[in-house]
Amino acid sequence: MSKQRPVLLEYAGKIDPAKAADYIAVGGYQGLEKARQMDRKALLQEVKDSGLRGRGGAGFNAGMKWSFVPQDARVKYVVCNLDEGEPGTYKDRVICENNAQALLEGMAICGQAIGSNQGYIYCRGEYPFVVELLRQAIASAKESGALGDFDIEVRMGAGAYVCGEETALIESIEGHRGEPRFKPPFPGVEGLWKAPTVVNNVETFACLPYILVNGAAWFAGIGAPQYPGTKIVTLTGDVNKRTFFEVPTDITLREVIYDLGGGIPGGKKFKAVQVGGTSGAFIPEENLDTPIDFDSMGAIGAALGSGAVLVLDETRDIVDVVARISKFFEHESCGKCNPCREGTFRCRELMDKLNSGKGNEADIDKLLLLARVMQKAALCGLGQAAPIPIESTIKHFRPAYLQKM
Ligand SMILES: Cc1cc2nc3c(=O)[nH]c(=O)nc-3n(C[C@H](O)[C@H](O)[C@H](O)COP(=O)(O)O)c2cc1C
Repeated sequence: MSKQRPVLLEYAGKIDPAKAADYIAVGGYQGLEKARQMDRKALLQEVKDSGLRGRGGAGFNAGMKWSFVPQDARVKYVVCNLDEGEPGTYKDRVICENNAQALLEGMAICGQAIGSNQGYIYCRGEYPFVVELLRQAIASAKESGALGDFDIEVRMGAGAYVCGEETALIESIEGHRGEPRFKPPFPGVEGLWKAPTVVNNVETFACLPYILVNGAAWFAGIGAPQYPGTKIVTLTGDVNKRTFFEVPTDITLREVIYDLGGGIPGGKKFKAVQVGGTSGAFIPEENLDTPIDFDSMGAIGAALGSGAVLVLDETRDIVDVVARISKFFEHESCGKCNPCREGTFRCRELMDKLNSGKGNEADIDKLLLLARVMQKAALCGLGQAAPIPIESTIKHFRPAYLQKM
């Protein structure tokens, strides 16, 4: 039996995501209607009870995040993170292209819960077609009356990875250079134009209509209890089916790669899998039976992150792969804080040295020390996560480093 569980993608390819009428015909906007009939406290409780946790990387409980927004603030905002800059990740694009109205409905449900009538979608600059689609979808939803007085504007990024970090994203919407802010205050208290702001990922918002319609208990019963629901994973690299799947969160990595992905092409053996995008850990064969949910991944020193799954076969030079990744982080560091600006530069330098056969074991020790400093001292998740691929490969694939010396 297939382990796929289409909820967000149930009508993929069957309805036009730009047309509110298509979505309404399959039960769309009933969740928002239900939310409008609940008082705010009950609505917040329903979202909390569902156990919905952020799908953008940090896995924070959505209802809990919303409850930090002060009720008495006059202006509040709902912001959707569609920056999707993590290489190998394209699930938010898939959601928009197949079920954009569910995202709009989810944002309006959030607006209902926190008392906001203004939403923004921050879309990565590389997705101009998605921006166009969303603008049509919003116009159609407004025309149908489904969104009521909730307005949504689409803003476009300009290709900076750091602008996926929620406070850099807020800076960018405000028209400033995309650099992260010091936290606290968190956006829930002081966000866009200093007003309380909820920032959630596309997939997080898109789950909400289904939670409202089917109930918190239904959602909480899908997948892993500590991180319930479905997850859209995108499979890339050395795997037969390089595509996306919506799966329950208790599916294991082995099932994703072999049952859904069809295994590794050309009869080659598995070497490693990187989960969660470029900043994710590399995982060896012995951990393949781990469920993909946030906490199970955390327990093996990895992170579900955005849900990108990159498979490497036995022929791949893992040190070379990590050296390339280091270059990416050096390029994408915004430079605001020293540990990241200097740290990503030094990581890249040391990785190049090791990759070109000029390194030694002392360089490995330097990298591990640098990783600890960056994780503790960098201002945002970019600098904190940049050394994870290095650390995880030194831990699990150290012989590959030693062979280069
Ligand atoms: C460098 C960096 C890039 C990020 N990129 C994204 C992104 O593209 N999309 C996203 O939803 N979250 C991204 N995040 C996480 C956001 O800061 C934030 O945690 C998330 O949007 C919250 O939504 P969620 O709770 O629904 O996951 C990024 C974080 C960092 C540090």
